[in-house]
Amino acid sequence: MSSSPTVHEKAYRTYLEFFEVAERKRRWNVFDDIPWADLDASTNTEQRARCIETFSAQFAAFESEVFSSTWQLPFPTRRQMYCYGALQEVATYLAYKAQKDLAIREGDPVRQAIFSFLSRDEAAHAGFYRAMVSLDLSEDRAGTLADLAYVISRFKMPGDGLIPDYQQRLRSSGAGISTRLFVEHGLLPTLRTLGTSRAELKAVLQK
Ligand SMILES: [Fe+2]
Repeated sequence: MSSSPTVHEKAYRTYLEFFEVAERKRRWNVFDDIPWADLDASTNTEQRARCIETFSAQFAAFESEVFSSTWQLPFPTRRQMYCYGALQEVATYLAYKAQKDLAIREGDPVRQAIFSFLSRDEAAHAGFYRAMVSLDLSEDRAGTLADLAYVISRFKMPGDGLIPDYQQRLRSSGAGISTRLFVEHGLLPTLRTLGTSRAELKAVLQK
């Protein structure tokens, strides 16, 4: 499956725009942009340590997976990977946003700054993948909807299966989001932006 020259050109422009905005507007520096002087070690807790450990474990698992002999893509085609990217990035956005909201409630400016930057980046990544799926929809709506329905029906976060006791760890550390939150604030808004619905995708799966 290859895209038409017009869609290919639009996809290239979407890439360029994404990187330009990333460089000009979203750039941040872990040394300069986080208010480290406000760090208060007396507020540390066991749960917070597990939360940080879980995020770190996700990075470590990614790293070892990426650098091992062959990384198994969760889906075989470019278009399915765009669909997967749109879902995975919005889930990551929600997970970081939950941490940001928690930091605000707990009055922790350091975690608030870190998770603000991270959630903003993840929202931009999700937007990029949605734009790519939209381009595919404009070219082949039926085929793209079939891929989207297929990917949603098999969706798992990248850490799931890589990190031991992933689901249990997410629950106990507070680093994860519930399925309900993902559906209401991630999946359904993504479908709305793409101009489709759960009902339409269900019908596609039943064909
Ligand atoms: Fe991301």
